[in-house]
Amino acid sequence: MKSSLSFPHKTQPNAAPESVPLAVPLLDLRRQYDGLRADVLAAIARVCDSQSFILGPEVEALEREIAALTGAACAVGCASGTEALWLALVAAGVKPGDSVITTPFSFFASASAIVRAGATPVFVDVDPGTLNLDATLVGRRLRDRQATPTKPGNVRAILPVHLYGQCADMDRFDRIVHEDAQEFGVAIVEDAAQAIGAEWRGRGAGSLGITAAFSFYPTKNLSAYGDAGIVTTSCPGMAEHMRQLRNHGSPRRYYHHEFGWNGRMDAIQAAVLRVKLGHIANWNRRRQQHAATYDRLFAESGLTSGPASNRTSNQTSGQISNQLNPPVRLLARSPQAKHVFHQYVIRAQRRDELRKFLADRKIGSEIYYPLPLHLQPVFSYLGLKAGDLPVSEKAAREVLALPMFPELTEAEIQSVVESIAEFYS
Ligand SMILES: Cc1ncc(COP(=O)(O)O)c(C=O)c1O
Repeated sequence: MKSSLSFPHKTQPNAAPESVPLAVPLLDLRRQYDGLRADVLAAIARVCDSQSFILGPEVEALEREIAALTGAACAVGCASGTEALWLALVAAGVKPGDSVITTPFSFFASASAIVRAGATPVFVDVDPGTLNLDATLVGRRLRDRQATPTKPGNVRAILPVHLYGQCADMDRFDRIVHEDAQEFGVAIVEDAAQAIGAEWRGRGAGSLGITAAFSFYPTKNLSAYGDAGIVTTSCPGMAEHMRQLRNHGSPRRYYHHEFGWNGRMDAIQAAVLRVKLGHIANWNRRRQQHAATYDRLFAESGLTSGPASNRTSNQTSGQISNQLNPPVRLLARSPQAKHVFHQYVIRAQRRDELRKFLADRKIGSEIYYPLPLHLQPVFSYLGLKAGDLPVSEKAAREVLALPMFPELTEAEIQSVVESIAEFYS
């Protein structure tokens, strides 16, 4: 492995044209499968042999194992991350007519689950460094809103998303809930869909709020062979409520106390997830190593101003850009967070042109997310318009996720960074 890169625009201005860069997929699940095939197929066979396909011992075992991993007392397996969010919100006490504060810079489900619980999403802008929900703005919004009883809906919960695998600022959300807004009984519900294994001050994502939702969608760090999700909580009463809700609100077969839904988890998904769970710590470590390699190569290339870990979320990327205006900027890393790099995301000048340039070289990339939620047509009833949440809107124009998965090689990361350097040369 090469320890450093050569970048044509910096070190070899008169060099001959480069050889064809290595193609790099955004994600290659087959490499993971190749290493796990025998174990996964044996786990699926175990379920087939048992003829027990929904909930049952595999799901219960997975629930215990995920609870142990996150540090929450209980976990409740369900059909998807979207379902998990709905369960988490309803168990936390969100009711029709309530409001829930969340980020506009996330996957749609973070907000649609609020609507499905009968509540109204209140979008508050994100921190310009981490792109996670901005706790200062949330505190301000909460004070304004609670002080204005004529506005519709009580804020019942705050739903921060641990975006790209890095926890939102849980110190400040805790302070808001336990000090500033204690009298209002506001709950924190974590959207931890992208953050299995992440931590905040050594505490696991999933144990930081009253309830938390995880997704096992096939692209996630811990992924099923289909749709699946799980909710964690340290409140046994809420766990029991969610067990009923995921099964038609039924505490006992054919008796129904409230309207639930079919949100159950398949045993085959649980069995596959249990095989993969044994690898998640190592896979997350590999992702962290890849992120460090990207950081280093970007810094060596002169494309960025230096490793992102030197920055705190208080330093905005806007300030950095004003100082140096590098073509590529890295997101801030909170020192309290153990980031599990579900995605490695840069902010890039001329982002869409860069993406096309990379695609022409068969280098995968993706935009998470191109249109913030407050500007989605389906949320027009909230009355928000372009310019209302400018940090999210700017991020949507600049972010680009680069290839990131545990089996990625250093040569592939070099190819990605060299190609980006070539684009800006
Ligand atoms: C932040 C976030 N929330 C919720 C979800 C929904 O999860 P699922 O696709 O498993 O329903 C996802 C997954 O894409 C996500 O990234």
